[in-house]
Amino acid sequence: MTFETILLDKQDGVGLITLNRPEALNALNSTLLDEVADALIALDEDSDIGAIVITGSEKAFAAGADIKEMAELSFADVLKTDKFALINRVFEQVRTPVIAAVAGYALGGGCELAMACDFIIAADNAKFGQPEIKLGVIPGIGGTQRLTRIVGKSKAMDMILTGRMMDAEEGERSGLVSRIVAVDDLLETVLGIARDIAALSHPAVAMAKETTDRALETTLHEGILYERRVFHSLFATEDRREGMLAFIEKRQPKFKHQ
Ligand code: HXC
Repeated sequence: MTFETILLDKQDGVGLITLNRPEALNALNSTLLDEVADALIALDEDSDIGAIVITGSEKAFAAGADIKEMAELSFADVLKTDKFALINRVFEQVRTPVIAAVAGYALGGGCELAMACDFIIAADNAKFGQPEIKLGVIPGIGGTQRLTRIVGKSKAMDMILTGRMMDAEEGERSGLVSRIVAVDDLLETVLGIARDIAALSHPAVAMAKETTDRALETTLHEGILYERRVFHSLFATEDRREGMLAFIEKRQPKFKHQ
């Protein structure tokens, strides 16, 4: 696969997508969104890959949807092309964990792309925001919905109505960010975490991701029942047997992802 706006690398069970439009602070134009979607699907279908990392540059994860590309569009244009629907659909279908490694600006669609990932690890220079209101629009790739679920209504309203930025500390405090890492160590740290996840049983990891996502979609009663049934079903895997035997025999498990 060849790409114009991203780099794709695969190593030790981890797929790395690097957003690569430095001249525009990785602004999400149509090509970049399509390429991220294609790369995610390809990595998810690759049985050697157990975790995916999306990152940008030290200065910007992504400074939002491409304003220059959007500036002249009409209501009918955006309604017809519905460009931002695809990336949300792809995130819904990907079973492999996706980690956002965010340094610098994650604004607008950039913040939304990071939030569509399963969790966010931020560099100490990261800045998150939904500044769309300053352009006369609102978030359009899930920002009003995901940010509110993640940080709660008060902070989400504050961010979305004022367009202000949140630094990494505030992001961690409010649950947007799972950990903060020094900017120079960001990629190696996140790749290490991704390698650790990729070494686990892929079916168990996929089920853990799917079940955790259900928490945001269903009632507590149904969610707990769903979790228990998935837990039961994992007793059908060879990896479950190997994981428990390895513990008892005081050795590292050798998962076959079966
Ligand atoms: C297109 C962008 C861009 C963007 C930056 N650039 N953000 N181009 N779309 N979102 C370009 C600039 O035009 C400039 O190119 C180059 O990247 C460097 O940016 P500067 O502004 O010179 O850098 P700096 O002064 O360091 O400021 C960084 C910044 C600022 C604070 C991040 O660039 C900024 O505010 N960007 C826009 C952020 C934003 O509003 N994002 C939300 C977009 S709307 P040139 O060639 O001109 O020098 C959105 C909607 C999503 O995301 C949902 C769908 C509706």
